[in-house]
Amino acid sequence: MNDFTLTTPTQEPGLPTAMQVVYQWSYDPAVEELRRLYVKAAEAQWVAERDLDWERPIDLVKFATTPLGAGIPIERTSYWRSLPAATVVELTKRTAAFRLSQFLHGEQGALMVAAQLVNAVPHTDAKFYAATQTMDEARHVEVFSRYIEKLDHIQPIAPSLKGILDATLETGDWMKKLVGMQIVVEGLALYAFRDMRNLTEEPLLKDLLTYVARDESRHHAYGVQYIERCVPCLGDEARTELEDFALECARTLIDRKAQGFFTTLLQIWADAGVDPVEMIGCLQREAGDITRDLPKGRRLGPVQGFVIPTLRRCGLLSERVAGHFHGFLRENFGSAVVGEDVDEFLRYLPALPADTAAWVLGELQ
Ligand SMILES: [Fe+2]
Ligand SMILES: [Fe+2]
Repeated sequence: MNDFTLTTPTQEPGLPTAMQVVYQWSYDPAVEELRRLYVKAAEAQWVAERDLDWERPIDLVKFATTPLGAGIPIERTSYWRSLPAATVVELTKRTAAFRLSQFLHGEQGALMVAAQLVNAVPHTDAKFYAATQTMDEARHVEVFSRYIEKLDHIQPIAPSLKGILDATLETGDWMKKLVGMQIVVEGLALYAFRDMRNLTEEPLLKDLLTYVARDESRHHAYGVQYIERCVPCLGDEARTELEDFALECARTLIDRKAQGFFTTLLQIWADAGVDPVEMIGCLQREAGDITRDLPKGRRLGPVQGFVIPTLRRCGLLSERVAGHFHGFLRENFGSAVVGEDVDEFLRYLPALPADTAAWVLGELQ
């Protein structure tokens, strides 16, 4: 019997979007850096089935080296060290399945945004580049879903992530799509991939993240190189709107109170057999010792350490919006991490790495 149907129980109702489609009749290279990036992307294509060893079983003991990425260093507490090895394995596996599921759903969003950009951006080179990114993202969806199914099972998207993907897909402004996806979402993803890829000892995950991170560093470069060309052409009002869109995206993704992301993690940990209250209590008692030796730069999270420096590079960090960023980061992480005032905050912002791909692969600090 044919079980093909036009609608499937797993699909969402359609999301109306405001995007306009733009023809471009000049096919000559016009934005050289984007043309070069397109050629580089075409040359760097890889094949999930051929280039990764899917037969290899996941080594769960090695997998337990994968960082939890909880945003707080629970792995460094005495409570964590006292856990039986089997609990650590289970906890790491479930936490990673949750995080990888968010990466996976984010990849689907990136796939659709990249495809929209093919239609909406006005320059031929930018359409070409978006086409290669669309192919990259399809492959990322493929490999993450396959890996999670091998490890555990796919978990639902976090509402905060869904909100930012919806906003980026819905807007009719292609520059906002680039800022929301290539700069904020992919900036945060690069930061997360970097940590996970460099610390995990699980070979298939490490290989997969190596391929994905190389692609992602090009996607981020696309956003940076295109937006930094566009921003000087904008009037004050349009630039302010773009700055605010970036701020809202970043705020949605990391605001601890709003997102419920952390609540989900606590539930996962409780299910894996740890007492979250005791674990957090231990972290609070030992926090001083854990963070004392870290130089200030090491404590920067993905927004302060990567997304905001990217916005600054693109000309989207006015004093006005820097003040807003400082305010909400201080609320979430405290002034010891983000600085007492905006001046101090700006002083601690690192420069973007000279070579993002090398940085993600741990070849640069
Ligand atoms: Fe991707
Ligand atoms: Fe991407």
